[in-house]
Amino acid sequence: MVMTKSLAPVIFTLFSCYLSIYSLASSGDFLQCLTKNIPSQLVYTQSSPSFTSVLVSSIRNPMFFTPRTVRPLWIVTPTNASHVQAAVVCGRRHGVRLRVRSGGHDYEGLSYRSERPEEFAVVDLSNLRAVHINEQTSTAWVDSGATLGELYYAIGQVSNQLAFPAGLCPTIGVGGHLSGGGFGMLLRKYGAAIDNVLDAVLVDAKGRLLDKNAMGSDVFWAIRGGSGESFGIVLSWQVRLVPVPPTVTAFSVPVSVDQGAVGIVTKWQEVAPALPDDLFIRVLVQKQTANFQSLYLGTCDALLPVMTSRFPELGVNRTHCKEMTWIQSVPYFFLGSGATVEDILNRTTSLSIYTKATSDYVRQAIARDVWPEILTWLSEPEAGLMILDPYGAAIGSIPESATPFPHRAGVLYNIQYVNFWFASGDGEAHTKWIRDFYAFMEPYVSKNPREAYFNYRDLGLGENVVVRNVSSYEAGKVWGEKYFKDNYKRLAVAKGEIDPDDYFRNEQSIPPLVPSK
Ligand code: FDA
Repeated sequence: MVMTKSLAPVIFTLFSCYLSIYSLASSGDFLQCLTKNIPSQLVYTQSSPSFTSVLVSSIRNPMFFTPRTVRPLWIVTPTNASHVQAAVVCGRRHGVRLRVRSGGHDYEGLSYRSERPEEFAVVDLSNLRAVHINEQTSTAWVDSGATLGELYYAIGQVSNQLAFPAGLCPTIGVGGHLSGGGFGMLLRKYGAAIDNVLDAVLVDAKGRLLDKNAMGSDVFWAIRGGSGESFGIVLSWQVRLVPVPPTVTAFSVPVSVDQGAVGIVTKWQEVAPALPDDLFIRVLVQKQTANFQSLYLGTCDALLPVMTSRFPELGVNRTHCKEMTWIQSVPYFFLGSGATVEDILNRTTSLSIYTKATSDYVRQAIARDVWPEILTWLSEPEAGLMILDPYGAAIGSIPESATPFPHRAGVLYNIQYVNFWFASGDGEAHTKWIRDFYAFMEPYVSKNPREAYFNYRDLGLGENVVVRNVSSYEAGKVWGEKYFKDNYKRLAVAKGEIDPDDYFRNEQSIPPLVPSK
């Protein structure tokens, strides 16, 4: 760990600030303040009988639920906006920081744990999960604590010709997902989730309830993909619903190395981002097989000629087609062909699978002769998988500065590297595999900066910088420019406007840039 000379005073100052807020902290006063303003059954301390079950209720990654994990001292489960406002006001007054959790899927668990010892409370929004669909205007208001599955289900109840372009996993929380971007199989037709946000309601560090106009255009810009948790607690979002045809077609075609996976993946890199925007074909590469998964907004009859003319190498024919409604495609892709639409309402999570993930963006197709090496990496005993999501079309046509999410024109595809293990292992080899594979991939992916997707959060992106736990604009650049490119600076300025004291802070939150007077 190296601390550069020039950063040392900054770090010292920030560290002192950090100590001072906590030396003021008074647990009893904070709790008293909460219970004066929030019904006591919505406030849990570590000695409450159901504290642990509430804490684990949406934890996805047991890596962050171990005896060593720094856990919250309190959990608040608000049922209305005034409870959230009270939690912020009490936290400020008594020097207790808050972390906000919607669906708990953060890859580093930052919504419910801290990397360093500190006293903090979690505001868990899972009780705030209403979805109101307005079919006439094709819009919806959705609370942050709703899951994507709950949003999709509510849309499907109203119409089979409306959808929302967001992620594949139905248990993801709307709050974190929209705060960090959010993309899924409709990204080529309609962009990312944040490209379809019309309004939002935010509780800021002063405890004020602000809509789009009241929060101002910089902050409204920032919370759409720029890490909502840096700016406050987003309670709800107004989103634009998008039209889909009554019949969509799914296919899944596995191709092994022996069947020509190397040549087909090489070709896919150029073909997939340039296909008509109705057609999305992603690839899951694991061991020696590339599995091509597709959603087409139309019938099999309409899909087949497109595949024959644009991507004949994949050999898609009528037997591969599965026609269904868009809402049926949600469980089909994430839960498998036997799953029902009701299954996407299931919020149950499991603490059995440990995960580590990170990401890259590819702007120049990787040469054919590199793919056998990549497949060798993926065949190692501790290897995970690679998910390749094609961009282009709508997601690429939006200017880089329109939202904080900058991975737009020129991106061919996103790579997600994921590894899994079970309780029997310590995960060391699996995590090392990700790190080593990520290092191997460097020459083949985007550069200056090497881009990364914020919603696939990785604290390792700043690993060689000692100050990663301290908010500092310069120190944050190491990950901030990977996630946000030139938008990082504008995010820091927006943060300086709404939360200059940096109350809402975590290990990778946006530091405030406040103009000197
Ligand atoms: P969580 O509650 O853990 O929050 C994540 C972050 O957002 C935390 O820092 C938290 O403080 C902050 N936050 C949460 N709610 C907030 C609020 N109301 N206001 C302000 N800040 C808030 N992504 C994708 O784009 N497409 C995909 O298909 C998938 N698929 C996928 C599958 C699985 C199994 C996982 C675990 C993750 C994904 N993701 C994904 C990544 C996912 O989009 C990302 O982890 C989201 O941040 C998760 O949002 P949650 O609300 O569930 O997480």
